[in-house]
Amino acid sequence: MKSVVCCVMLLFIGGIVECAAKRRNHNDPPTDKLPITLYYESLCPYCRAFVTEQLNPSMVRQDRLAFTELTLVPYGNARKDNTTGKVTCQHGVLECELNAWHGCILEHHNITDALKLIACMMRSGKNQIDKCATRYSIDVTAVKACIKSRSVDDILEKYRKETQKIVHLYSGVPAIAVDNVYNQADQNDLTDNFDDFFCAKYEAKFNKKLKNCL
Ligand SMILES: *[C@@H]1O[C@H](CO)[C@@H](O)[C@H](O)[C@H]1NC(C)=O
Ligand SMILES: *[C@@H]1O[C@H](CO)[C@@H](O)[C@H](O)[C@H]1NC(C)=O
Repeated sequence: MKSVVCCVMLLFIGGIVECAAKRRNHNDPPTDKLPITLYYESLCPYCRAFVTEQLNPSMVRQDRLAFTELTLVPYGNARKDNTTGKVTCQHGVLECELNAWHGCILEHHNITDALKLIACMMRSGKNQIDKCATRYSIDVTAVKACIKSRSVDDILEKYRKETQKIVHLYSGVPAIAVDNVYNQADQNDLTDNFDDFFCAKYEAKFNKKLKNCL
């Protein structure tokens, strides 16, 4: 159910009339946010290109994040050994470590700050947590404590389980689910032209055209 409460506040201060109209949706599910889920791994070149050249510019520069229920799942093509429980990543130990950093970032920051940090780290391909935290003035103390106190395998378990749900459907990462559905046929459009795809899906679902959409 969609319930929009409009508050119109009239403030008379020193002869100035201020009028603010506010839309609120307290405990309602965010009905006007399009769910986007990205399954990825920190070091795959296509994942890095997608996050830094498509997803982040769309979310930040085009301001789509407020209209998105964005979920990042940093696991990708990693595999868990059935007997040892150890996770092995496609691009080696560093990738598992970086995926775990992403996991801890996602656990301890909201998606706005998490995306800033993660996109910044993916631009480099090395562990640039300090540089990225400084750049955006984000306190990553809790993220560091998370990394220090837990094993990589433990941190990644949650993302492994999420990935298991769709891994049989996709042929590689990045894999992008839109409105909670993964569609293989859409992947090229999504990775090459994410913002246009987002605009079209958003308009189709909510019957609303977002700004700067064609
Ligand atoms: C891992 O173990 C489970 C249960 O012991 C088994 O069902 C599954 O097939 C195994 N997977 C692999 C990849 O060996
Ligand atoms: C995200 O967290 C930061 C830091 O706590 C806060 O300043 C910002 O307002 C939050 N953003 C959203 C959209 O909740």
